[in-house]
Amino acid sequence: MTRPRVVLGVSGGIAAYKACELLRRFTESGHDVTVVPTAAALEFVGAPTWAALSGKPVSTDVWSSVHEVPHVRIGQSADLVVVAPATADLMAKAAHGLADDLLTNTLLTARCPVVMAPAMHTEMWEHAATAANVATLRSRGVLVVEPAEGRLTGADTGKGRLPEPEEIFELCRDVLERAATGSTTGVLDLAGRRVVVSAGGTREKLDPVRFLGNRSSGRQGYALARAAAARGAEVTLVAANVTLPDPAGVKVVRVESTAELRDAVLTASAGADAVVMAAAPADFRPVHRSDTKIKKAEDGSAPAITLEQNPDILKELASHRPAPGTVVVGFAAETGDDNGSVLDLARAKLARKGCDLLVVNDVSGGAVFGADDNEAVILAADGTAVDVPRGSKGALAHVIWDQVTTRLPSA
Ligand code: CTP
Repeated sequence: MTRPRVVLGVSGGIAAYKACELLRRFTESGHDVTVVPTAAALEFVGAPTWAALSGKPVSTDVWSSVHEVPHVRIGQSADLVVVAPATADLMAKAAHGLADDLLTNTLLTARCPVVMAPAMHTEMWEHAATAANVATLRSRGVLVVEPAEGRLTGADTGKGRLPEPEEIFELCRDVLERAATGSTTGVLDLAGRRVVVSAGGTREKLDPVRFLGNRSSGRQGYALARAAAARGAEVTLVAANVTLPDPAGVKVVRVESTAELRDAVLTASAGADAVVMAAAPADFRPVHRSDTKIKKAEDGSAPAITLEQNPDILKELASHRPAPGTVVVGFAAETGDDNGSVLDLARAKLARKGCDLLVVNDVSGGAVFGADDNEAVILAADGTAVDVPRGSKGALAHVIWDQVTTRLPSA
């Protein structure tokens, strides 16, 4: 099997050092990587570092090694071009078709998917010129990843950070895999769409140190958010008590309780194209929450905890759609019982919840919580059912988005 050919473009920002880690991830997982830094990038990380890590010579202009590597061939033969970090200057050049160095030439000759992970100060990211260039690039099919929020160079904080290298890597791998399978709907079939995903398990406080919770790891929800970002969607991930790293290009809102989850999901969902409720919200919460730690009683008795029901967010979203045509997706973990098989119970749940799709996990053979793999049946309100054989949570995520995509009203 030929190794996927990746061009790693590096432009001149302080985050160039993080691209070394991205490069390592690619080479260690068997990708053939050609690094194309700009001259400014070499001010931050020198050519010997890129050459040593990629095992290939490195050039920035179109005049070096002309007889061996014509400047057009690097772009033409690539399976993926990823620029990380992408500076405001590099994106401006790319948006206008300038070609004054090897990276910009490569971008013009590439016919494969192109991913750009911008990193810059917040003001530069928010400037109308940058926003217009990003819009142009996106309209031409470039996957421009939203920068992360957090610490920038020096003491500044704000939007403009390069997402973590392992998350950029996961995104790129996802894009490469979809391109390799020849996705019939196009690699960026969710471009221009806004989606909301919830993940994790909510906690209902009993007192300042205790809570009622569940074992949801958030992995399936994170895989859904990552997959949607890799297909070009603008993604908000509402995460309840999840410890996983933020997926690249995804806005993450953190919550704790079901009430907070409901507020965050409803706010983010306004006008959204799709909402996927992968979270496991606690169905009940204590009627009373103690402001002080509940103490053991001398007589050995235990306190009684009275519970009340939490709102059903999925049902609410299904009955009050955030926009006409919003596709609403729920999850169900079923074991089957005297009242019916897993699928009987799931069909009844689909009708009860009123959502468009219900992703059903049969948990009678053991829990899926925290596992890397998953298998499911996706039931649709229109009566169809899609069996998804055991595979990664990322693979299931893509089948779910395939099902969502076919149900979206035309943009
Ligand atoms: N859900 C929700 N709000 C809740 C509880 C669950 O939005 N308060 C969503 C979950 O995110 C998931 C689906 O509903 O998408 C799971 O439903 P579940 O709680 O299993 O359904 P119930 O109707 O409570 O069924 P059961 O009696 O089997 O628990």
